[in-house]
Amino acid sequence: MFPTDRPRRLRTDGVRPLVSETDLSASDLIAPVFVDATTDERVAIESMPGHERVPVGEAVDRVEEVLATGVEAVMVFGIPESKDEVGSRAYAEDGVVQRAVRDIAAETDAYVITDVCLCEYTDHGHCGVLEDDAADDPTLTVRNDETLDLLSNTAVSHADAGADMVAPSSMTDGMVGAIREGLDEARFAEVPIMSYAVKYESAFYGPFRDAADGAPAFGDRRHYQMDPANRREALREARLDADEGADVLMVKPGLPYLDIVRDVREHSDLPVAAYNVSGEYAMLHAAADRGWLDLEETAHESLLSMKRAGADLILTYFAEDIADRL
Ligand code: PBG
Repeated sequence: MFPTDRPRRLRTDGVRPLVSETDLSASDLIAPVFVDATTDERVAIESMPGHERVPVGEAVDRVEEVLATGVEAVMVFGIPESKDEVGSRAYAEDGVVQRAVRDIAAETDAYVITDVCLCEYTDHGHCGVLEDDAADDPTLTVRNDETLDLLSNTAVSHADAGADMVAPSSMTDGMVGAIREGLDEARFAEVPIMSYAVKYESAFYGPFRDAADGAPAFGDRRHYQMDPANRREALREARLDADEGADVLMVKPGLPYLDIVRDVREHSDLPVAAYNVSGEYAMLHAAADRGWLDLEETAHESLLSMKRAGADLILTYFAEDIADRL
C-alpha cells in the first residue's frame, strides 16, 4: 500500500516558491524609532540590542538609516525632557515627538506614524490622568474620561507637526472617537488612526519600558489593558474602535496572540496590524547570543507567522534587519 496523496511533491526547491501561501516584504514593516530629549548623543538600549535612543537632532539620520534598508514607515516614540502629573510634554508644540516629526516630515520621504500615549510623559508612568488616591489604592488608577482630551490634543499636535498617521496606545475607552473628533475639527480629516485596539496587559513589554522610561511608578496596567486570558473581549475592543472610526486595528503583543490576530482578521474588514513587541525581540536575541537559536531565521519565521495569522502590517524591532535580508 502506497500513499496516493503526497504533499511532499510540492516541497522541492523549484516548486516551493510557486505554492507558497504567505510572504513577507519590506513594505509590510514599520520600524520603531526612539527620540530622546534628554541626551545629545545616541544611547544604546541594553535590553534591545541594536536599538538606540537618538537625540532630536539625529532623528532625521536615524530615519534615513531605516529607509536605506527598504522599510518605508516608522513609528516615533519620545522620551521627554521632563515629566509631570498630566503628561503635558506629550501635547506640547515643542515636545520631543513634535520637534522630531517636524524634521522627519520636512527632510525625509518616510511615512511617519506616532505613538499617542501619556505613560512616557507622566511622572507616575500611567497612561492618563490619575485618580486622587491612586498611589494608596491599587484598584484605582487612570481617570478614563479626563484623559480623552489630553490624548486628542496629543494626536492633533502630532498631526500638526506632520505625522502621516497617529496610533493611540493607552487603552482609554473612547480614545479613537475623541481623537477622530479632535483631528477632524483641526482639519486633519485625512490623517488615519491606527488604534492599538487589542492591547493586552503583557509581561512582554519589559524591555520597552526601559527603553522609553515608561514603567508605572506603582501598580500595573491591568485596569486598562486587557486580560491575557480573554479572547471574546478582543473582538469587542476591535468592534468599538472600528465604530469610533479607527482605520487600522492593531493587536499587541504579536507572537503569543496569533489566535487574536486571526480572530480580528476574520471579524473586521479593516487592515490588521500586529506588534512584535520588545520582549519578543529581546528573547530571540538572548537565545541567539547563547548560540541556541539562529536570530535571522527565527525572526523571519516569527514575522511570517503573523502574516499567516492575518496581519497586513507588522510593527517590529527586526524591521531593518529583516528588510535587509529580504
Ligand atoms: C505606550 C506603549 C508601550 C508599548 C508601546 N507603546 C508600553 C506599555 O504599554 O507598557 C510597548 C511596546 C513594546 O514592548 O515593544 N503605552
